[in-house]
Amino acid sequence: MEIPKNRLLPDTAEINSLGHLEIGGVDTVELVKKYGTPIYLYDEMTLRNRMREFLSSLKEAYPKSKVLYAGKAFLIKKITRILAEEGLGLDVVSGGEIFIAKESNFPMENVYFHGNNKTIEELKFALEVGVGNIVVDNLDELRLLTSLVKRRPVNILLRLTPGVDPHTHSYISTGKVDSKFGFQLNSKDLKTAIELIKTDAFLNFKGLHCHIGSQIFDTKFFRMAAEIMAEQIVIFTKEWDLSVEELDLGGGLGIAYKPDDDPPTPKEMAVSVADPIGEVCSREGIKHPTIILEPGRYIVGNAGITLYTVGTIKEIPGIRKYVSVDGGMADNPRPMLYQAEYTAFLANKMNKPKAETVTIAGRFCESGDILIDKASLPKVENGDILVISATGAYNYSMSSNYNMCPRPIVIGVNNGKEEVWVEREKYIDLVRLQR
Ligand SMILES: Cc1ncc(COP(=O)(O)O)c(C=O)c1O
Repeated sequence: MEIPKNRLLPDTAEINSLGHLEIGGVDTVELVKKYGTPIYLYDEMTLRNRMREFLSSLKEAYPKSKVLYAGKAFLIKKITRILAEEGLGLDVVSGGEIFIAKESNFPMENVYFHGNNKTIEELKFALEVGVGNIVVDNLDELRLLTSLVKRRPVNILLRLTPGVDPHTHSYISTGKVDSKFGFQLNSKDLKTAIELIKTDAFLNFKGLHCHIGSQIFDTKFFRMAAEIMAEQIVIFTKEWDLSVEELDLGGGLGIAYKPDDDPPTPKEMAVSVADPIGEVCSREGIKHPTIILEPGRYIVGNAGITLYTVGTIKEIPGIRKYVSVDGGMADNPRPMLYQAEYTAFLANKMNKPKAETVTIAGRFCESGDILIDKASLPKVENGDILVISATGAYNYSMSSNYNMCPRPIVIGVNNGKEEVWVEREKYIDLVRLQR
């Protein structure tokens, strides 16, 4: 096997003289001997490389810009510390994510709070700890916020639904924009919200937001969204006399999950949004807003892998061979949730030629707990260390204790050293909150 060239594995991935997969200068087979499996393994250098690449790509395309990391992809204290060091802001969607940022002393002014149904407690908490920006999703939320903000003004952005689906384009003029998120364009709710903002001294209107979807491989959808949002900037400025200081166009850049995936680069994404915004603002003589992008998956997805141990192997002649591992849908629900596809390697047999196609099954009591339907691997044996790549995003953050299985350990590697970022859960953790 070879390390794929499309950055499917972390940037530091190598095959060492023993034929083992090495990440961050650490032999993953040795790591497994020390910590057991499953392990979520992150390469700190890849995380930092992706953050720097995103920041510089956007700055190059449009100097007046900011990058926020979408915490929902993977948020622990270590990540917020790296973000602060690298100069990224943070997009959060819950009181829990705000709490993590707060616990690690993340600069709260660089936090943007999203969500279509923020609770009153969450909004109060956000205001209390000084979250810098609230991305208001709907009229009810705006009214709630108005009732809570009475002493210090709060920065708000309005989330709009531009009607761009990453696969189809539903023209907003049809009015058929079906999303639980955001204000519909030209809607009565939006008009009422604008009137409220203009009369409430404590609502400091900062700008607009949209997010069209995730794992997007065609930048034309980002361009379409940017074009629609540019029209909105003109409307807000000229018709409503509200200056749009910030335009947040969300995240969604796709990543490689398979060896032949060829996603666009941050540079391509940045150019696709910067061009229409720049053109429209220059043409209309409007102040150019700060453009914000919110990548989640792109920053952490390929920086992470999951290591499992191969357990039972069951062959059904003429049908398939099941290779079961000691994890599955509880640590990676994406294949079950939306048929996400992944790639597997054998960390202890990286130099062995591919010899068979097998189905990687999880250990959980669901027939659908299949991690990979067809994995092409060297001959697999009990005790082999199976790696699934690109599990850095939406795996740990979506994990559960299904079947009362403790969550895996999270380890970071860098410059030949490992560091435990989150300890492996123990059985006692499963009853900790039970009375
Ligand atoms: C508002 C918002 N911003 C950013 C993201 C991050 O998307 P991705 O991880 O695909 O970059 C999401 C993902 O759902 C989102 O809802």
